[in-house]
Amino acid sequence: KSRVGVGIVGFGTVGTGVARILLDNAGLIRRRVGVPVELIRIADLDVARDRGLSLPAGMLTQDSRQVLDDPDVDIVVELIGGYEVAKHLILEAIAKGKQVVTANKALLAVHGEELYQAASRQKVDLAFEASVGGGIPIIRALTEGLAANRILSIYGIINGTSNYILTRMTQEGLAFEEVLEESKRAGYAEADPTFDVEGIDSVHKLAIMVSLAYGTPVDVKDIYTEGITKLTPLDIAYAKEFGYVIKLLGIAKLMEGEIEARVHPTMIPVSSPIAQVHGVYNAIQVVGDAVGDVMLHGQGAGSMPTGSAVVSDILSIARNLVTGGVGRVPAASFQPDQRRPLRVRPMA
Ligand code: HSE
Repeated sequence: KSRVGVGIVGFGTVGTGVARILLDNAGLIRRRVGVPVELIRIADLDVARDRGLSLPAGMLTQDSRQVLDDPDVDIVVELIGGYEVAKHLILEAIAKGKQVVTANKALLAVHGEELYQAASRQKVDLAFEASVGGGIPIIRALTEGLAANRILSIYGIINGTSNYILTRMTQEGLAFEEVLEESKRAGYAEADPTFDVEGIDSVHKLAIMVSLAYGTPVDVKDIYTEGITKLTPLDIAYAKEFGYVIKLLGIAKLMEGEIEARVHPTMIPVSSPIAQVHGVYNAIQVVGDAVGDVMLHGQGAGSMPTGSAVVSDILSIARNLVTGGVGRVPAASFQPDQRRPLRVRPMA
């Protein structure tokens, strides 16, 4: 293969970051892959908005078919979000033998297994580094870097929007409603920000991490879910008086052969490293039986950090295409371990 072609569907906050990185870092990406990785087409309903990028005429289209049907597009990047349209697009791309990269945590949390099986049958890759923790390479950490370990627990701040809101409430004594609007404008929030503030986005990300760490399909309904909408400045002030800060955490623990998984606001001692995680930053602590504890910290949302994770998947797949490697290790982890499936303990 003398070059690898990329098509993006969904040209919003993350799509713009992905395009910018592919264009700005084209030289180093070429060196790292061995051949040029070229942006071929971008589809979005909004083709008029100025994203501050100079794209060749004709690259931008309103029709996602032009991405799927283009023989020069080897890798389809799904960044539209949501369930039905995105799922259909991914399945169609897979059926056409395209490699797929997605950041769609909601879709993966609910239909990850089905999508993985479709990709596996077609022997194409389905990569999703950007689905959890924005720019933090947590998917690779769980599936590659820490693959030698039995994972004892995963614990952390996995939603940038709610952490941004809690940080402003804590540092400035502001009320929840006062900060919500601002966080939407910052471009971190989901299209439906209730996903962020009601803990649902954190549940999606926790479900993906649990599937990967334990080879277990997870029903998101088994994960106890409580968001930050009911927290008042008074709750935060009281916590502070006792030496705590309140953070929205996703927690998964191996307990007596079952997995306990939950998302809720938690009191953290001010001296704990996780209490120092501010604004849009995420932090995820993984405890493995061999490695002990590992902490990853970085920007959990936003155009360039999330774009960084998406482009890392593009590079990894492009390298496979160039060397003839089939499939990455990570996606295989979605396959349930049939010998000893672990159960996510439903919360009372
Ligand atoms: N809305 C998400 C967040 C984006 O705020 O963390 C990154 O997944």
